[in-house]
Amino acid sequence: MIQFSKNFLWGVAASAYQIEGAWNADGKGPSIWDTFVRQPDRVLNSHTGDVACDHYHHMEADVALMAELGLPWYSFTISWPRVQPRGRGALNPKGLDFYDRLVDTLLAHGIRPKATLYHWDLPQALQDEGGWPERSLTDRFAEYARVVFDKLADRIHLWATFNEPWVAAFLGYGHGIHAPGICNAQAAYQAAHHMLLAHAKAVQIFREGDYDGEIGLILNLNHVQPASNRPEDLAATERVYAETHSIFLDPLIHGCYPEAFYNWLGPHAPRRAAGDLTQIHGTVDYLGINYYNTDTVAYDISGGWLKARLTPYVAPGWGFTTMGWGINPYGLRARLRDLQTRYNNPKLYITENGCALPDQPDENGFVADYERIAFLRAHLCQMHAAIEEGANVQGYFVWSIFDNLEWERGYSQRFGLVRVNFDTLARIPKQSAYWYRQVIQHNRLEC
Ligand code: NOJ
Repeated sequence: MIQFSKNFLWGVAASAYQIEGAWNADGKGPSIWDTFVRQPDRVLNSHTGDVACDHYHHMEADVALMAELGLPWYSFTISWPRVQPRGRGALNPKGLDFYDRLVDTLLAHGIRPKATLYHWDLPQALQDEGGWPERSLTDRFAEYARVVFDKLADRIHLWATFNEPWVAAFLGYGHGIHAPGICNAQAAYQAAHHMLLAHAKAVQIFREGDYDGEIGLILNLNHVQPASNRPEDLAATERVYAETHSIFLDPLIHGCYPEAFYNWLGPHAPRRAAGDLTQIHGTVDYLGINYYNTDTVAYDISGGWLKARLTPYVAPGWGFTTMGWGINPYGLRARLRDLQTRYNNPKLYITENGCALPDQPDENGFVADYERIAFLRAHLCQMHAAIEEGANVQGYFVWSIFDNLEWERGYSQRFGLVRVNFDTLARIPKQSAYWYRQVIQHNRLEC
């Protein structure tokens, strides 16, 4: 039996584009994802987020359901083009009002809000000016952050600036898999650097504004391990680590850039202005960690600019999720231990963890997802083991409350604790939702 501290924070997470729908309602501007999903062959089955879970129109009922499920925290993200349709200047009062009502509704149900400013849905107008590789976007982001803090920071006390900047920069600008669909290594590194700088500017506004609460950044830190002890495999693993961890964490926590890696990258490395580093250093009150899977890394001359080939690793006795990701609960513990030793034991929240599985609903739409329960239990047990070993983990959020749009994979992946029927939009909690309610209620579980 493992027991969590009484202040341990439990919740669920979702993001704006993946659940809200209402893509052009009430004055919302288009985002790069609204554009991307309309291009041929970008998203499986040409699915779009036009309707998604239509959370925008079901918000009150959705929050009531979260309360029924005993959820103390809800982590949501704010759609920048809903608030500021062109990414600069004029605000959209109805868009801001939606988040204002969401926060009030959550609080009225006793649910604490955690908000993220950027989960990949950049206003299209800013992409038309060049997108994240353009340095001026950092000021646009700061302006947007100020608007949101002014409106909501009296009631939201846990903030994140960016969700998974690696994904936004590298899948969006480097590999062309996500919006805006660009394939250019230098653009990706430049975008990543600008996201860090934009993060720092927003944090400065938050701190100078004397808002009450914590602000941090969320990184996707999957575990990576070398395919062998051969020097070339070890070096390839270090490069993957550098791109996913060091380019963000070295400047944020140690106040330096991973220079050796940037030298290796040569012309792909980002341009950095004098003063950027000082501005970025020390700007996280906490780190959000999204953990899903583990990869094995081998040197491969054809492995893109990193010269690395990643193969999913599956821990003994486990298998793959429908994403094709290898399940490895011990990878979470290893990640947490690594942050403890390499990055000064920062305060952490697990801001996402969960799995997409081939859920089989019965005739009433109920899913008895014992495999998801096994996944969550095993990850919670490993997280707890890391806490016992000294990792400073203060909270845990399941991804996701609802089945939703899994980006380029459309609606083919079901991550929810609650099943969504995308024809009728009916929501039906799965077995895992009731299991999670018990864990939260007792603040402990059997490992
Ligand atoms: C991380 C992302 O933040 C989220 O948008 C996505 O759906 C999940 N991982 C699952 O891939």
